[in-house]
Amino acid sequence: TSLRNEASKKDILIGSGAINPMYLNDPEFAAVLANQFNSLSPENEMKWSFINPTKGHYNWDTIDRLVNFAEDNNMVVKGHGLISSCCNPDFLLNITHPTAFHTAMKTHFEAIMHRYDGKIDRWDVVTEALKTQGGGLNNNNFYQVLGPGYIADAFRIARAAAPDAKLFINENLVESLPGKRQELYNLVSSFVAKGVPIDGIALQMHITEVAPKPGVITEMVNSYKALGLEVAIAELDVHTLDNAVETDIYGAVVSEALDAGITDISFWGFTDKHAYTWVQGAKPLMFDQCYKPKSEFYATHAAL
Ligand code: XIL
Repeated sequence: TSLRNEASKKDILIGSGAINPMYLNDPEFAAVLANQFNSLSPENEMKWSFINPTKGHYNWDTIDRLVNFAEDNNMVVKGHGLISSCCNPDFLLNITHPTAFHTAMKTHFEAIMHRYDGKIDRWDVVTEALKTQGGGLNNNNFYQVLGPGYIADAFRIARAAAPDAKLFINENLVESLPGKRQELYNLVSSFVAKGVPIDGIALQMHITEVAPKPGVITEMVNSYKALGLEVAIAELDVHTLDNAVETDIYGAVVSEALDAGITDISFWGFTDKHAYTWVQGAKPLMFDQCYKPKSEFYATHAAL
């Protein structure tokens, strides 16, 4: 049976992110996506400069296509890229006045979230707010113009625009860097203390060498649960050059996540044909270039 079949029995979202709608032109790609997953999210197409390259102009077609595909195949869609660490259009970057910048952010969130009202019910609101290795907030365009409060502002705007949606802060490497893990926890618990609307953290989990230490995922789930928040896995892939190691990591991460009570797991794509990878030669996903399931797939399936 398929991943989605197993996942659905337990009420688990099993998703593929990194879905460039263009890939749907490939019938094999589309078939595996629809057969194996019950959730999907875009790759770059919802990031600001992609969806709204010039003031007032929105490229709705690409995301509409994903949303329609999901509807046709009884899948849900996760929004990704409202604030990303890349990809901001010039018209935004030219705004230097904080009030005008804040207004632009609000206008942008409302445009997207209202359009997909009732169709997208969970979002990565801010991605990579922290420096890659930890040690403070990323000095991105939002930080430069609005200061550190931009993150809380983004969540407030998002909640007002989509009151029923789940809102996540998406972050990398927190499962492997203890200092950064603590930093994210401090940031998010300060939000909870101040009443900033947030529903959880989304772990990217682009794993390059070793799996997170056993127990770390569980510990995070428990500490966020104590705040009333959820932990999701948003972009899992494993970029080692060793197939057996990779397989073990897939199995270990998915089974610890499920044991800990995580109910929302997405991978950063599913076929090595379209893998986004920074490790030369890596084959980080569950299906090979010809859509044949790899041992990574079987390990995941067994863990579900
Ligand atoms: C990546 C895309 O896959 C690439 O095509 C792009 O060049 C850079 O961004 N974390 C995220 C994703 O949240 O949006 C990133 O996607 C991968 C890391």
